[in-house]
Amino acid sequence: MCFPESKKVVLFTFADICLLSLQLENHRTGLLWSVALVVAGTGSKLWEVPSVSFTSSSNLSESLQWEPHCQYRHLQDTVRITADIPPRLDGTWVSTRCEVRPGPEFLTRSYTFHPTRHFQALQHYYTDSGCEDPAYSLMIRGKLRLRQASWITRGGTEAEHHLSKVGIVVHSLAAKQRLASRLPPSCVGLTLGRVVPGKLYELYNTRAGRGCLAALGFSMMEMGLIRVETQHHNHGGKVQELFLGDIHTDWTQRTNYRPTGYQQPLQNAMHHIHPCPVCALVYRSTEQRPPVLPRSPAAHLSLAGRWVSQHCETRPNVLFLTRDFTFDSDQHAWEGIYRHYSDPACSQLTFTLRASGHYAQGNPSAKVSGATEFVFKVTQVSVTAIEEPTAKLLNGTRPGKCGQAGGWEVGVEQDLTPTDGCTVLGIKLPHKEYELFKTELNHRKHPMLLIGERPTDGSSPDRPQRRPTSFQAPLVLCSGGETYPSYRHGSGFNSKQVQLAASGTERLAQVMLLVFGSALCSWICVY
Ligand SMILES: *[C@@H]1O[C@H](CO)[C@@H](O)[C@H](O)[C@H]1NC(C)=O
Ligand SMILES: *[C@@H]1O[C@H](CO)[C@@H](O)[C@H](O)[C@H]1NC(C)=O
Repeated sequence: MCFPESKKVVLFTFADICLLSLQLENHRTGLLWSVALVVAGTGSKLWEVPSVSFTSSSNLSESLQWEPHCQYRHLQDTVRITADIPPRLDGTWVSTRCEVRPGPEFLTRSYTFHPTRHFQALQHYYTDSGCEDPAYSLMIRGKLRLRQASWITRGGTEAEHHLSKVGIVVHSLAAKQRLASRLPPSCVGLTLGRVVPGKLYELYNTRAGRGCLAALGFSMMEMGLIRVETQHHNHGGKVQELFLGDIHTDWTQRTNYRPTGYQQPLQNAMHHIHPCPVCALVYRSTEQRPPVLPRSPAAHLSLAGRWVSQHCETRPNVLFLTRDFTFDSDQHAWEGIYRHYSDPACSQLTFTLRASGHYAQGNPSAKVSGATEFVFKVTQVSVTAIEEPTAKLLNGTRPGKCGQAGGWEVGVEQDLTPTDGCTVLGIKLPHKEYELFKTELNHRKHPMLLIGERPTDGSSPDRPQRRPTSFQAPLVLCSGGETYPSYRHGSGFNSKQVQLAASGTERLAQVMLLVFGSALCSWICVY
């Protein structure tokens, strides 16, 4: 687990290191922390946000640029990404594909936020991983209050929600029977025995307890952490994505877990990727008419090739990273490069980790149809410190515990295999993990690889029972023979401050975004 308050470290899993280090902060002498009061909205609301003191190199109109990794995306299509703090939520946000939550649960979502701060969230649950067979829909009404920029997950905004009503529509008798095994015999306006499919029943209101919601594993804790990203495409279009807090992978924790990472984003119904047939279906759905997603042709699972992150990824416990995997299906060998950053735009590299080993393909998953089980073995790990504090930290480890003691230098890779890993990084070699993989085609009919979600508590899926039931952000297939991914980001200064251009008359309503410099936490965590 990754506890900010604990002095040291940690756990490693091949995709997953979590390094806590209070020492690091002490090395970051260059940063002066201060609190900036940013006036937002009508000017009546004060946003207290952590901030490094801005240097003269700060450029208010600077934006974060994400250079696509793979040639196929090199369509002169450099995407500029901005994110407001606080986020602007007004409008409807929809799923872009069948979503898988730990459990597994299969669902689509359509959330509408009104300027009055009221929201209406529709969640459609399915029996199958293709979202073709609707089981029940939840209609959730409530109110959301944005609180402050998150001190834990930089770039995110913390919020509080208040539920006023939750209604349920059951879509089939079979679904009713399955619910009967989970729900108490009666819930507010619903007596399961008498439920008629297609009719809306009240499951929760402000006068009722949450027992029935908890029995469904339902909560809206995801509203606790919010981020809206706007991608400005060169050709003038824009895409807006709403990131809501992650769902705990442990079912017993999910109704009280305060998210520190994100789920896969919803997209704005007005500004989404094109084409997105699923977006339209979800947008038009009601609780009575759940979207039935079209069957997607089964993508043949071949891991061979190089797969990379499409975006900067945020993980629970505040890790910003990109992943880059190469699989050799003849040799059953793999290599993964994890690039770790200190900021939510993945512009400040802190260190990279290269892991490799072998894998074995197992059976098709019984829990998530279309997915396949794998076992991964990590036999070799190398680490390159990209910045001084990380190099110093690793350099100070005891001989034999983490590569060559005293041999760490910025930019120089160290093999951790001779020391069977690295205690301070929580890496132990060799290491085995039970995995769940799935391939899909994205909206451009390009292959995507979904790799199992990491356990939220930072542990490792080192036993078959701990095998994931949901996925991380999809990786995309590179079309072979390319160089390593790189990022281009403005002038490369340390703290990026992005300010959305306000049309003159709306200056007061303008929002300032701070994407903080290199240290929010006194610790770094790594996947
Ligand atoms: C600030 O950024 C904008 C857009 O990226 C650029 O046009 C401008 O020259 C920059 N100004 C400075 C002082 O760097
Ligand atoms: C690592 O330790 C060695 C030996 O103590 C020292 O010479 C070197 O400068 C250190 N490197 C860093 C980056 O601190």
